[in-house]
This record gives sequence, C-alpha cells and structure tokens, in this order.
Amino acid sequence: ISIGIIYGGKSTEHEISMRSAESVLTVLDKKRYDINLIYITKSGEWLLTKAEDLFNWKEKSAEKVRIVSPGRIEGTDINKQLDVVIPILHGTMGEDGTVQGLLELAEVPYVGCNVRSSAICMDKDITKKLLKSEGIDVAKSVVFKYNEKNKANFNKTKEKLSLPMFVKPVNQGSSVGVSKVTDEKSFYNAIDEAFKYDTKVMVESAINGREIEVAILGNMDPFVSLPGEIISNTEFYSYESKYIDEKGASLEIPAKLNSFQVTALQEVALKTFKILDCEGLGRVDMFLTDDNEIFVNEVNTFPGFTNISMYPKLLEVSGIEYSSLIERLIELALQ
Ligand code: DAL
Ligand code: MG
Repeated sequence: ISIGIIYGGKSTEHEISMRSAESVLTVLDKKRYDINLIYITKSGEWLLTKAEDLFNWKEKSAEKVRIVSPGRIEGTDINKQLDVVIPILHGTMGEDGTVQGLLELAEVPYVGCNVRSSAICMDKDITKKLLKSEGIDVAKSVVFKYNEKNKANFNKTKEKLSLPMFVKPVNQGSSVGVSKVTDEKSFYNAIDEAFKYDTKVMVESAINGREIEVAILGNMDPFVSLPGEIISNTEFYSYESKYIDEKGASLEIPAKLNSFQVTALQEVALKTFKILDCEGLGRVDMFLTDDNEIFVNEVNTFPGFTNISMYPKLLEVSGIEYSSLIERLIELALQ
C-alpha cells in the first residue's frame, strides 16, 4: 500500500504536526507500506522528504511535489500512484477542509473527516451553534468579526457572560491566541491578541468543571474510548502547558469517574461526532461540572498524535494499541 503522509503545514500548529508525524512514523510498518512524506513548509511549499530528515529537511535539495488526479504524487523525479493519504495536519489550511478538498479533487482516499465536517469543526462558533440546536450544552458565547472589533465592550460582554471569560480566535487549535479574562484590562488585551490569529474572535463564559476528552474512531458505528482528564496546574490548558512546560498539565487516563459519568460523557461525545458528520476520527473535548452537567467545548478532527497526546493514549487504554490504531485509520479511509 502506497501512503502519502502530509505534515507540517501553514498553521500555527506546524511544530505539533511535525511531532505528530514523527510519532506516527515510528509505528508504521515500513515493510507493509510504501511511505511518501510530503512536508508543507510554513510558507506553503510542498516538498518530498525522507523519514531520516523529518526534522532536518534540506529545503533547497528537497523536490517540490503536488498531489493530482487520479491520486498521484508528482514532481520532477517522482510520478507515483498513492492508495491513501494521511493528512497529519493541525489547524487552518490542513485540518479545516482545505487539504481534504484538494484530496477529494485528486480522487485519493484520505484518513479522517470529510471536507464539510473538517470545516465545521475548525470553526468554534458554527460548531457550537449546530450542537446547541441539537440539544447539546455549550458555554455561552459572543462573537466579534474584525470589522466589529470596536463593539467588543467589556461591561456589555461581562453582563451577558459573567466572569471569568475566555477570549479565543474562532479558527485555531492548541490554545494559540487564547486568554482567560478576569478584568477590563485583560479583556481588551485578549481581544487584540486573539485578532492576531483570526478575523473572528469568540468570548466565552468559563465553565467551572473538569476538563474531559473522549476519542472516537470509526465511520458509521464508531468506537468510543474511555474518557481522559486534563489536570491543569496553570490558569488553563494553554499551548505552553500542552507542549512546552511538562509540569503545566498532566493527563489522567482513564479519568477517575463513576460508571454513570463515563456513560454520559461517551454518549454526548458520540452524539457530537454524529451531529457534526465526522468520519474516521475525532477527539471531543468537554467539561463536566460538579452537578454532572456536560458541556462540549470543541471537536478536533485531527487531534494531536504526538507521543504525549491524549487521542492515541485514550484508545490504548480502551484496548487499541497505537500501531493497530494507525492501521485501522487507513482501513477506514479505504472503506
Ligand atoms: N489541536 C491539537 C493538536 C489538539 O487538539 O490535540
Ligand atoms: Mg483544539
């Protein structure tokens, strides 16, 4: 089987994608699969790379490639049929339906969500509106578009949402550009910061609850993992506590929950996955309050796959080993 692995990408989560790709590569059976690595540079060039220079690619010597219909990878020295593509990309221009659309046009099967669900899940505002309309609880929020930036008034927003609040770019991952806000000054700084990353910014009421994540694997009748918990030692589960400061957060896998809570969280996660029309994989991030209320925060259609990431670990404790997880994802793409 000839596989194309696309990694890197133009988003702020470029480095996370490199780490996810590295960890997927360590478990892929090199005898069974012919692996073709395509690295998207931060400026958007597509380069053919080798596993040994995953982190040390030579931009000048690497061959420029593209994926074209019908399912071929093409460059000056390469012209080869691909059976399947794994787009190990996080964030915009990769996890948001753009690359998925390109792969659809190129007529090559790919791992993960389709164009529509990828695009919906990347937009935290549209995701919440859809979930709300189907009876799933989400945190209260207001959204400001770039041209409405002046309408982002602290007192008015506070009245609607109450403190503390979160300010987030609508289309981002890994908490890039996210701030927790407790007063007027931090509010306006947070709005400016979030607008650096997107033209739409969301202000949300903070939910006082445990941060729980569930992994989903499958198409029509997907497998739902046990829940895991993020134990944050900082103000919130920020980019830094996710990937830089090891003491910033720890993962409790599986989470310490009673069986009633486990079932309820799994049900909400599965319902969310279905409402948003997801396929293949997804990680549903939720909050569980002391009153056992569940709020969905967001869905990641290509969640982190690094060696410290929640998604593969959740499946592992639920009985699916990392190497068979990747094989299963490839099978699902080919279904
Ligand atoms: N967006 C990051 C990669 C995650 O959700 O795991
Ligand atoms: Mg995310």
